[in-house]
Amino acid sequence: MVNDLFDAINTGKGKEKLGVVLGALIDYTVTHFQHEEREMKTHGFPGFAKHKEEHDALTKQVGDVRQKFAAGSNAALSAEVMAFLKNWLIKHIMGTDKAYTAFLVSKGVK
Ligand SMILES: [Fe+2]
Repeated sequence: MVNDLFDAINTGKGKEKLGVVLGALIDYTVTHFQHEEREMKTHGFPGFAKHKEEHDALTKQVGDVRQKFAAGSNAALSAEVMAFLKNWLIKHIMGTDKAYTAFLVSKGVK
């Protein structure tokens, strides 16, 4: 999604692509976060509450960006979404999500 959006911005199609990326991003956050939270809860992951807080904040942020987009998107919004995707979503996936990996694997989750 990051690469798609980046390419679209570079070829001057950032605005139209932004709506598509935002939709996909929202689908992804809802589905993926629910799945993660279910697994963490089922297996009693001790860091669940803090992890869910990050999910909730991330979901809210995506929703805020979508609202701004619906109210009239502009080029700056594409850049904002890019920064958001790079700095937070990737940070969360590469960082916070890694914290439960060993734990869930030890519980037999594949
Ligand atoms: Fe997560």
